[in-house]
Amino acid sequence: MSNSSWARAVVERIRIDHVGHRGDGVSLHTGEAVYVPYALGGETVEVDHVAGNHPDRRKLLAVDIASPERIEPFCPHFGVCGGCAIQHWAAEPYHAWKRGIVVETLAQAGIDCEVAPLVDAHGAGRRRITLHGRFGTHDILKVGFAAANSHDVIPIDRCPILDPALEGALDAAWALAEPLTSKMPVTKPLDIQVTASLNGLDVDIRGSGPPPTPVVTALSRVAEQHRLARLTRHGELVLQRLAPTVRMGRTDVMLPPGSFLQATVAGEETLAALVAERIGKAKEVLDLFCGVGPFALRLAEKARITAYDSDAGAVAALAKAARTPGLKPIKAEPRDLFRRPLVAPELRDFDAVVFDPPRQGAQAQALKLAASKVPVVVAVSCNAATFARDARLLIDGGYRIETVVPVDQFRHTPHVELVAKFTR
Ligand SMILES: C[S@@+](CC[C@H](N)C(=O)[O-])C[C@H]1O[C@@H](n2cnc3c(N)ncnc32)[C@H](O)[C@@H]1O
Repeated sequence: MSNSSWARAVVERIRIDHVGHRGDGVSLHTGEAVYVPYALGGETVEVDHVAGNHPDRRKLLAVDIASPERIEPFCPHFGVCGGCAIQHWAAEPYHAWKRGIVVETLAQAGIDCEVAPLVDAHGAGRRRITLHGRFGTHDILKVGFAAANSHDVIPIDRCPILDPALEGALDAAWALAEPLTSKMPVTKPLDIQVTASLNGLDVDIRGSGPPPTPVVTALSRVAEQHRLARLTRHGELVLQRLAPTVRMGRTDVMLPPGSFLQATVAGEETLAALVAERIGKAKEVLDLFCGVGPFALRLAEKARITAYDSDAGAVAALAKAARTPGLKPIKAEPRDLFRRPLVAPELRDFDAVVFDPPRQGAQAQALKLAASKVPVVVAVSCNAATFARDARLLIDGGYRIETVVPVDQFRHTPHVELVAKFTR
């Protein structure tokens, strides 16, 4: 867009004070915080109001005085696609900001502890994506990621932050969306989750109604043409050419469709290594919110493991992988740890516990751990705020917190993971 067309739309020229926890530039010029996505601290920017009821948000129109920390984004979709919030900031201040999210969140919760430097865990890139299929204007199919702050879909033909193992994922998603949208009525948005496995792409489609036989035939044909390892719809098998497995430690795990998987290989390996270091020589280890077992399967090289997760498919996959020769016994069972956290008598025999809950945290379980005598508790979290709440419970129960390590698995986003050890 030309400078003159920007200029006509300008309603305000403001200075940005800093980058907030969600990655937006924050201006305090009116005394109230105003949020400007894609703006950096110290910049003077021209902004417009945002349509709808967003009195505290502005749209960036132009950067008048740029920060010396501003860099050129590497993706042509950046600024439109909502997948990345930050590609315009130099690595060093970006790392300091991300670590700062953890530091500030813990300080706000009154938790006094060291925070280590941010560990980069982007590695080769994301190994899993969820693409959306929608009809746009003139009923033209769009397959891509959600736009920033909107449910609109930005059609995507490339994404430079993906692991090369996801090569072909975008083409396959476009080809799968076609029969599901052209040959049957589209009532709901289509979600196409693609995961890189050792044997090729594993795809699970959600949001379509039950497809009639000709659509299933068309989907199977696409799966063959694109040499997918497996295609499922709402977890039900459409076609499997090869078993979609991922390597965890010494073991290959068969992925259940749609189960949780860490976003990058480097992220999983980094978190697992930090957990193992903190668990140390413990012989009886409890792995709560275990998923398909990235921690359990590595820890079982030295310790006996008991593992729980509410996802029965993930637990079954872990139980099967646990039969790998050379591992110590792993007992894995499904259990809802929000409703039925493990209680003191069940926690008694463990030397160490690791818990890695979803974004909501593990309040009920943290309360029970706080009342337990387990000598070592290791927390892994993808949400600093709920971690701080749960850490507070453990500290109030008598645990000491050691250095917290922030991990950057979701580069270019405001998400940050962390690992912390508690002892008593
Ligand atoms: C952040 S993932 C961690 C999984 C695993 N530790 C990993 O690294 O792959 C959180 C896990 O919590 C599980 N979960 C979600 N709600 C749960 C609940 N109420 N009770 C038990 N597990 C739950 C999910 O199935 C998921 O596997």
